[in-house]
Amino acid sequence: MADVSLDAFLAKINALQNEASATLDDASDASSVEAARVEFLGARSGRLKAIQKMLGGLSSADKPAAGRHFNELKKAITNLLSSAQERLLREESTIEAVDITLPGQAFRFGHLHPITQTIRRVQEIMSRLGFESVTGPEVEDQWHNFEALAIPSEHPARDPLDNFYLAVAQGSDPLLLRSQTSTVQIRVMEERKPPLRIVSLGRVYRPDTADATHYPMFHQVEGLLVESGTTMAHLKSVLRFFASSFLGGDVKVRFRPSFFPFTEPSVEVDMEWGGRWIEMGGAGMVDPAVLEAVGYDPDAVTGFAFGLGVERIAARKYGVADIRDFYRNDVRFLQQF
Ligand code: DAH
Repeated sequence: MADVSLDAFLAKINALQNEASATLDDASDASSVEAARVEFLGARSGRLKAIQKMLGGLSSADKPAAGRHFNELKKAITNLLSSAQERLLREESTIEAVDITLPGQAFRFGHLHPITQTIRRVQEIMSRLGFESVTGPEVEDQWHNFEALAIPSEHPARDPLDNFYLAVAQGSDPLLLRSQTSTVQIRVMEERKPPLRIVSLGRVYRPDTADATHYPMFHQVEGLLVESGTTMAHLKSVLRFFASSFLGGDVKVRFRPSFFPFTEPSVEVDMEWGGRWIEMGGAGMVDPAVLEAVGYDPDAVTGFAFGLGVERIAARKYGVADIRDFYRNDVRFLQQF
């Protein structure tokens, strides 16, 4: 007497085939296909094996038909496995395929900030006239920021409200963020003997309220030339060469009488470019008191110095109306340079 009917056996076979088909259709990677292989075809505890065991319970009359169906099921599951594997291979190669006819992805290059570009350009132009580029510290003492530059202690430029003095231990010498790059003139002259030609470009700090033309941090170009026989004519020629090279075309330079403690005579420097005059900074012949302060003999050497605003000349060149734009870090602005 058989304890499994053919109908029940065939129902099992159908159910298993449907399950195998659903599982393998869902398999999305090689490890789930392998898991399905073990689940259905596994030699020891595979589900096909369990069905094979049922064969023994069928009547001998039903066995040949049941055996055929069993073999068909085994073939069907094997086919399902290999088509799942093929499908995965196809999907993988689609991901890896490269369409070489598509345009490449553009690489986005950054570039130097317009102020850095301006600094480098000024250095390059001045080097053609033999001016070596040097730097100095941004935290200064009173000697280099004021005293050696003939700015006495009662001078309004030293007012605490006009400078960023640092908090220092009681009894120590005051320190401040330098308010001008003229400090570097002193530092270089203290170290070297004439003749010398230097430019120094860097940050300076003043507690100004930011507006279209002011910022509490800005940059200056400081120039210094000390050689015997130097005159204001040399100063004007150098500034004119610089302005023409930087702005392009013929630039006029105009001196207006002025006063700076560290130059005598002193002038304001204006430049005309594109039909407009604009004030660029100050200049003059190095004051004998300054030469003395650094140990030079004022009777043996003369020199000139100038200080220009980097933001100012950059704004003029690029047509920037508000210098705060340089520091807003808005790429739409910065990308233009
Ligand atoms: N240090 C001056 C300032 O910050 C600018 C200046 C004027 C620099 C005259 C100089 C100079 O070297 O000779 O306002």
